[in-house]
Amino acid sequence: MALVTINGQTLEVPDGTNVVEAAALAGVDIPHYCYHPGLPIDGNCRMCLVEVEGARGPQIACNTLLRTTRNKEGDEVPAAVVKTETDAVRQMRQGVMEFLLLNHPIDCPVCDQAGECGLQDYYMEHGKHDHRSVVPKVEKVKAQPIGPNVILDQERCILCSRCVRFTREVTKTHELVIAGRGDKSRIEVFPGTELDNDYATNVVDLCPVGALTSRDFRFKKRVWFLKTASSICTGCSRGCNVHLDHDGGKAYRYRPRANEAVNRWWMCDRGRFTYKAINEGRQRDAKVGGQVVPFAKATQELRQLLGSGKVGFVVGAHASLEDMAVVKWLSAALGARAWGLDWSEQGKEDDFLMKADLTPNRQGFALIGLDSDETSFREALPGLTALVTVAVALPSGLVHARTAALVTHAAAAPESAAVVLPIAMHAERHAAYANVDGIIQHVEPAFEPAGDALPASALLALQGAGMGYPLPFDREGVWKRLDAERGVTA
Ligand code: SF4
Ligand code: SF4
Ligand code: FES
Repeated sequence: MALVTINGQTLEVPDGTNVVEAAALAGVDIPHYCYHPGLPIDGNCRMCLVEVEGARGPQIACNTLLRTTRNKEGDEVPAAVVKTETDAVRQMRQGVMEFLLLNHPIDCPVCDQAGECGLQDYYMEHGKHDHRSVVPKVEKVKAQPIGPNVILDQERCILCSRCVRFTREVTKTHELVIAGRGDKSRIEVFPGTELDNDYATNVVDLCPVGALTSRDFRFKKRVWFLKTASSICTGCSRGCNVHLDHDGGKAYRYRPRANEAVNRWWMCDRGRFTYKAINEGRQRDAKVGGQVVPFAKATQELRQLLGSGKVGFVVGAHASLEDMAVVKWLSAALGARAWGLDWSEQGKEDDFLMKADLTPNRQGFALIGLDSDETSFREALPGLTALVTVAVALPSGLVHARTAALVTHAAAAPESAAVVLPIAMHAERHAAYANVDGIIQHVEPAFEPAGDALPASALLALQGAGMGYPLPFDREGVWKRLDAERGVTA
C-alpha cells in the first residue's frame, strides 16, 4: 500500500494507483478526458494537471503512479503530496479548456451529446473563458457513418484517443486511427474498413464529447429527460451490468455499468440492442381461449387448471430466481412436478464476453433445484392434466392441450393456450439472475410493468395463497425462504 496526501488529506491506496483514482477515493474530483480505467494510460489531454510537491512543474495526475515510499529511517511517507485546487491548477485547467475548444464548433444545440458532454460540463466548471482566437475554425467532416452503429463528427473530437485505444487494446480490431498533423489531426476509419466489430458501440460510451454518437439512440431523446435504473443485460448468460435509461415507461438504451467481475466496462452490441424487447411485442392483456378477458377472469381459469390434478410446470431460463423458487414451492404444495427447461436458440460465443447461451438465468435451474431433464418432461407430458409455462416458449410438438402460458411477449404464447397471462420483464421489477459463473445479480425496476403484467413470482404466489398455500410473494419473503432452505443468499 502507498500513502498519498491530497489537498492535506492523507490516505492509503494500493500500489500502482494513479492520482486521479486516489483523489476519487478521497472525494476529490480531478477533471480528465483521456484517462479511462479500462484503457492504457495515454496522458494526452492535460486536463488532469495538478501540483505535486517537489516535482519540476505541473504533473498529469493520470500518469502519476503511487508506490510505497520510505524515508531514510525506513518509515513510510507519502509517495506524493498533491494539490488540486490551487490558483495555478485552476489557470492550467482553464488554459487546457480554451485550447480544446479553440476549433470546436458551436454545435451544442444540435448535438446529441448535450447534457452528458465532458466539454459542456468542464467548461462550466473549469473554463468560462472568452474565445480569443481571431482566425476561422478548422472545418472537418461532420456526421459521417463509420459503421452500422456509430456516427463520427470529426470537428467535435478532442483527440483523446480513447476510441483508438479501445479498438487497439480491447477488441484488437484496429479500425480507428488518428490521421493528419497539428490542427488537421482527426479520427478516421482505417482505409478500406468500417467500425463493425461485436463491441463497436462501446466507443460511443467512451467518447467524452459528441464526436462519436450511436446511430440507434441519437436524436431519440434529450438525455436530461432520461432516468436511469441499475440493471443487467439479459441477452446472454454473461449478464453484463448496464444502466437502463428510460422515460415514460419506455426503455431508450443500455449503457455498460462497470463490474470488474462480470463485464469490466464493456458490453457487446448484440446485447446492447436487446433493450428494444422491453418495448416491443409485449403481452399486455390476459386471455382465455384466445379472447382478451379481465385479469381476474384469467387468474380464475389458471386456478382451475392448477387444481386439476396432475399439473406440470415448466419455467424457462429468462425467468428470475424468484420466479423459479415460487414455481418450485407452488408445485411442491400442489403435489405437481416442475421442470427448468429452455429451448431458446444459441448464439455466437467469443473468448471475451459473449456467450452462446442467450438466456440470463440457466444457472438458476440448479441453484433452485429444478429438474432439467427434458426426457422426463416429454415422458410425463401426456399424463398431465394441465401445464403451466413461465417465461418460456415451448417447441410446437410439446404444447399441452390445457396450457396456461405466463409470458412477457405475445409471440411466446401458443395459439392454443387455454390461458395467457402477461408477466413483467427484468426492467419492471426487482429480480435476480445467476450468470454463467454463478454470480447472482439483482436488478431494480425502471418502470411499471406493461399492461396488466405482474412479476411471475407474485402472480403465482397469489394463486397459491388463493388455494390455501401461502407463499412468499415479495422479494424479501422469497429471499428469506431461499436462504433458509437452500442457503442461496441475495
Ligand atoms: S472521437 Fe471521441 S473518443 Fe475518439 S479521440 Fe475523439 S474525443 Fe476521443
Ligand atoms: S455479452 Fe451477453 S450479457 Fe453481455 S452485453 Fe452481450 S449479450 Fe448482453
Ligand atoms: S486525463 Fe491525464 S492527461 Fe488526459
